[in-house]
Amino acid sequence: MPRLLIVYHTQSGNTGRLAEAVRCGAQAETGVETIMKRAFDTTLDDLLECNGLLLGTPENFGFMSGALKDFFDRTYYPAEGKTLALPYAIFISAGNDGSGAVRQIERIATGYGWKRVAEPLIVRKEITEENLTHAEELGAALAAGLALGIY
Ligand SMILES: Cc1cc2nc3c(=O)[nH]c(=O)nc-3n(C[C@H](O)[C@H](O)[C@H](O)COP(=O)(O)O)c2cc1C
Repeated sequence: MPRLLIVYHTQSGNTGRLAEAVRCGAQAETGVETIMKRAFDTTLDDLLECNGLLLGTPENFGFMSGALKDFFDRTYYPAEGKTLALPYAIFISAGNDGSGAVRQIERIATGYGWKRVAEPLIVRKEITEENLTHAEELGAALAAGLALGIY
């Protein structure tokens, strides 16, 4: 069964709420195994064993969180050449922007050779029910794509 890995960090809980919604949407797809881990706890093996990846982070100082950066720092060279064309998407919680975090993550993802398969979800300010629905849809879309083998 294809495996979808959700890697996220949250400090004050907002990205965590989005991650839960993403997981909920993904788990509605029965043909995929969904695993969710905090970035600091995500290992190289978690990355190497997944078939799709969802990355969630707050934007801090115009960048991704240090925790997500740590995940990249730890896995980049050991995973080099081993995750090519991995389908991925991003979700961000931001006070007022979020574009810096997206830009940096996409740059790094290009280095891994990953393939972006959905528009980044950027949620600014308070999280609304509509935002949570969009997060669920993002999880569902990735999971459905993996289940159907369209990536
Ligand atoms: C240290 C720090 C730096 C931040 N920098 C930015 C920023 O550059 N751009 C932005 O839009 N929001 C910024 N914010 C706001 C957070 O992105 C926002 O509160 C987010 O919802 C936090 O997510 P979390 O609850 O998952 O930790 C910053 C917050 C903190 C604590």
